[in-house]
Amino acid sequence: MILTENNRFVLQTQRTGYAFHTTAGGVLQHLYYGVRLPREEDYLSVPVTRNQPGNALLDNDDMCREDLLQEAGTTGWGDLRQPLVELTFPDGGRAADFRFSHFERPENAAPEGLPSALGGETLKVVLKERNHDVYLELYYTVFEETDVIARWSRLINDTAETVWVRRLMSQQLDLPVGDYDLVTFRGAWAREMDMVRQHLEGQLQWSSGAGISSNRCNPFAMVCRRDACEDYGDVWAMNLVYSGDHLGTAEKSAYHQVRLTQGMGLLHWQLEPGASFDSPQAVMTYSDRGFGGVSRAMHPFVQKHIVRGYWQDRERPVLVNSWEAIYFKVSHRKVVQLARSAKEIGAELLVLDDGWFTGRTDDSHALGDWTADKKKLPGGLASLAKEVNALGIDFGLWVEPEMISENSELFRAHPDWILGHKDQAIGRNQYVLDLTRPEVCQYVLESMRAILGGADIRYIKWDMNRILGDTFSPAWPAARQGEVRHRYILGLYGILKELTAEFPQVLFESCASGGNRFDLGMLCYMPQVWASDNTDAACRAAIQWGYSYGYPQSVLGCHVSDAPNHQTLRRTPLESRFAMAAMGLLGYELDPGELSADKRQRIKDQIAFYKAHRRLFQFGRLYRCPSAEGEKLTMVVTPDGTEAAGVHFAALNQPNPIQKPLYCRGLHREKVYHLTNRLTEVHMKDFGSLVNYMAPIRIRAGSLVEKVADQVIKLPPDAIDQTASGAAFCQAGFYPVQPFGGTGFNEGTRLMKDFDSRLYLWTEETE
Ligand code: GLA
Repeated sequence: MILTENNRFVLQTQRTGYAFHTTAGGVLQHLYYGVRLPREEDYLSVPVTRNQPGNALLDNDDMCREDLLQEAGTTGWGDLRQPLVELTFPDGGRAADFRFSHFERPENAAPEGLPSALGGETLKVVLKERNHDVYLELYYTVFEETDVIARWSRLINDTAETVWVRRLMSQQLDLPVGDYDLVTFRGAWAREMDMVRQHLEGQLQWSSGAGISSNRCNPFAMVCRRDACEDYGDVWAMNLVYSGDHLGTAEKSAYHQVRLTQGMGLLHWQLEPGASFDSPQAVMTYSDRGFGGVSRAMHPFVQKHIVRGYWQDRERPVLVNSWEAIYFKVSHRKVVQLARSAKEIGAELLVLDDGWFTGRTDDSHALGDWTADKKKLPGGLASLAKEVNALGIDFGLWVEPEMISENSELFRAHPDWILGHKDQAIGRNQYVLDLTRPEVCQYVLESMRAILGGADIRYIKWDMNRILGDTFSPAWPAARQGEVRHRYILGLYGILKELTAEFPQVLFESCASGGNRFDLGMLCYMPQVWASDNTDAACRAAIQWGYSYGYPQSVLGCHVSDAPNHQTLRRTPLESRFAMAAMGLLGYELDPGELSADKRQRIKDQIAFYKAHRRLFQFGRLYRCPSAEGEKLTMVVTPDGTEAAGVHFAALNQPNPIQKPLYCRGLHREKVYHLTNRLTEVHMKDFGSLVNYMAPIRIRAGSLVEKVADQVIKLPPDAIDQTASGAAFCQAGFYPVQPFGGTGFNEGTRLMKDFDSRLYLWTEETE
């Protein structure tokens, strides 16, 4: 709900309230963002304005902007904090003073050429620069049910001369004096989303200058009071609906207020007379229930307002991806074989990853030449897809359309289509195509149309495997080179908009060497993202935990891969790899045909189990439960609370282990639940030479006798069977079966290997 009385603006969602007003002189003063207050008047307690400024500046209304909570900070009028907008006027002057002009309530308003959240109720507040005909429009959209408020900004140049835009941020949030922490998610390839919590003193920032949102620092961030934790405390969260360079700033000012801003990175944009310029949209939420509260606002928001179209609320297929199975060694026969074994284990989609197009023998060739390699696939994609479909399984394909290899037909024909000079720092042997040029975008679109129109392809993995470096574009004059990075993203969005509209039922999965472009912008076009190239279960436990703060598991591609793992060479139990991948969109990235019959059977059983609970795993409400150091318990609960699943990942087994209860979250207090766990096979050979303590004959590790004994002698898996109320599971917790700890094994013991997990299920007891 948006209230607009007497130039006071109150934006309310179910649980939150946000308020600002105009001062007598027309400056937008921020009043409040927090728990929804009972009465409208409650929002109007105006913070005191400083009248003894020391050596700070006063404006012509005697306002000290340096010590004023505001909605749109500018430069040159005494506010020394990071501004929302930073301009250079035709005379070179930079002081900008935007004052309230009027407000409107537009039906539909979205930044031009950029993706934005669907729905909501919008307020547009128009400010005018006092000495120039330059207008700043601030857009606020309220998503009442999910407790999210979105913001973006538009600049309009109504003067007769060019104005330069250095910065146009999407949102600014000024918080009152207090003691806060900044929480950001940083990383690199294969180690995405490492949560970093820093005390907020001075200036901090979270940003990417990689040309894409990047895994170096995700645009999602939170600011919280110092005592906030998972379940308690005030937390404000921000994210950006954008996939390019981004900049988030968090700053404790000289007067101890805290300013947060977020938007695209700094630019050098030439705003011509009569032209307008839009920032991307940003979103924010507030919760007084800790980080968990933030996640449970952001998850449904992403599911309902960011992800859209055919796949918005649809269960996603279980897939087998060829990458870690065969890498570049693609052949028609091998792919059909892979599809056959994928079908046998119960997968629904076979994805042919890299290596299928003309001349693609390794990663130094052929990007840009999007036709099937006749040597590898003599019948082309159409006949391959047909054969795969005939096995009763869908066919999907990997592409990397934004890229070009020097060693390609495309490069030989259009060497000038690359972004940057030929002599540049290069990533994965490839150049980036100059998507600021319409003819290049057209080429990409037509290549993709030909692929999708030419064969029965139900899924596309859209990859992007290098960051941007030198982004010089010969298509633009020197004075406009500062616009190229943003124009690249606009070009990309233009392609994605057309393509996804033309092929609405194709399931697109965004990928950038895993999570190098995991953001709300891409999610507006592609309903899921390959979360990380790292498929090691132990690493995934941390990576997926990191993503879960800002993104629901229904957008996370998670695969079971072979052991030893190809990124870490670590061996983790198959059941643990499954449990981890089940907490997202399950896939297998291995060749099932190469596994033992026993392992294939176990995988078949995993997939059947996942399918039986798929809605819960993919769309259940996610809870991060209290977890001991190094361990992680994540739960998903159906919206009506009748069913829940949880994965407890325990990193290292300990001898003589301490018995710790596990505390649940999300179960309904009054409901009574029956708790069971997925049974994990126990193998005699897992005990090594220790079996000789019990065995009547000596069994050597690795011997034939051991093999036979392992098949004949079945050891009991640990099983939990407990009934209690939701309140009891959450408050008193439950005790997992005692792990083997060096002194005997019996039915009351569970075998927990290193990096093992247990998958638990709670079902409501109904008499
Ligand atoms: C990237 C992706 C991988 C795989 C390869 C193929 O690294 O993240 O999943 O598709 O490219 O080259």
